[in-house]
Amino acid sequence: MKKLGILVSGRGSNMLAIIDACEQGSLSASVEVVISNNGDSVALTLAKEKNIYVEHLSSCTHPDPDQLDVAMTELLTGCDVDYVLLAGFMKKIGPKTLAAYKSRIINIHPSLLPKFGGQGMFGINVHKAVIDAGEKETGVTIHLVDEEYDKGSILAQRTVAVAPDDTPETLAVKVLKVEHVLFAETIQKIIDNSIILPDH
Ligand code: GAR
Repeated sequence: MKKLGILVSGRGSNMLAIIDACEQGSLSASVEVVISNNGDSVALTLAKEKNIYVEHLSSCTHPDPDQLDVAMTELLTGCDVDYVLLAGFMKKIGPKTLAAYKSRIINIHPSLLPKFGGQGMFGINVHKAVIDAGEKETGVTIHLVDEEYDKGSILAQRTVAVAPDDTPETLAVKVLKVEHVLFAETIQKIIDNSIILPDH
């Protein structure tokens, strides 16, 4: 059984989808720890209600970025985590955590990368940009995390049609529905070795 650590910043609906998939057995893994950079994050409360160990790690708890990076690495390795999932986590991962979990940190992004990725492209901003660009389709990307925002190897993508009357908000709902399915499916494929991650 693989062990997961989940990093979140906000409401945590993708985190819950992963926890639910583990509980239902469609994902043969367990969530060992949920970490948020936001001590007030709804996601931490939701994870606690599921009896999952939670921690708040941020510049508030660790003003020195290097110490924050060390604390993150130690927490994940201390929980014996195999894969780190970024489920709406809006901060960069430090070099020590990246090195300790090389090719084992996986992000979900609400567009068809490389389109609509990079700094500032998160949450509703992505859907606004998609509509402003007049795109006929958008989607979800699951990818490995490296030093740069939204640039790591793509592991899975699924498209979502953009309707002429979609607003950023209606599009966000459609895309999120797909996110909740594709994230757990992709992690299960990694566990099954039907998606092979690069050596680490
Ligand atoms: C999700 O749509 C996720 O793809 C996005 O933030 C939302 C978090 O929602 N992530 C990014 O934009 C990363 N660049 P959630 O907290 O309900 O899972």
